[in-house]
Amino acid sequence: MDKVQALFEAAVAARQNAYAPYSGFKVGAALITPSGAIFSGANAENAAYPIGTCAETGAISAMIAAGERRIADILVVADGGVLTTPCGACRQRIREFAKADAMVHAAGLGGHRASFTLGQLLPEAFGPDNLTLSEKNASGDCERN
Ligand code: THU
Repeated sequence: MDKVQALFEAAVAARQNAYAPYSGFKVGAALITPSGAIFSGANAENAAYPIGTCAETGAISAMIAAGERRIADILVVADGGVLTTPCGACRQRIREFAKADAMVHAAGLGGHRASFTLGQLLPEAFGPDNLTLSEKNASGDCERN
C-alpha cells in the first residue's frame, strides 16, 4: 500500500478514539519511521484545558515507547474546511526527531489534501543540533542519543 494511504488509515483509526469532549475537534496522527513502522495517536483533552495533548504528541510517544527515534513522514487528519497542520508546539516536537526534509501531510476525512516539508512549516528551526554543538555538550557533560 502507498505510504501516505497507510498513514491516513492509521490516523483515521486513531482519530476515532480521540478524546475531545471540550473542543469537539477530533484529530488523528500517524507517523512512519525509516524502518517502516507506523505509530499513531489521537488528541486527549482534559478538564484542565491547557494540559490536553495533541494527536501528534501521542504518536511521538508511541514511537519513543517502541524504541524508535526518527520520523520519516507524519500525517495529521481532522475534519473541517480549513486544512489542519500541526500546531506550533507540535512542529517543534516533530523537529526533535525529524530533519527539515521530513514530510508532513495534512488530510481531511476524505483523504490526503496537502504535503509540506518540515522545513516549510518550521523554517530555521532550533533543534538537537544546536545543543550538540554547544560548549557544554561538546565537553561531554551531557550525553545525547
Ligand atoms: N489538535 C491536535 O491534536 N493536533 C493539531 O495539530 C491541532 C490541534 C487538537 C488539540 C485540541 O484537542 C483540539 O485539536 C482543538 O485545538
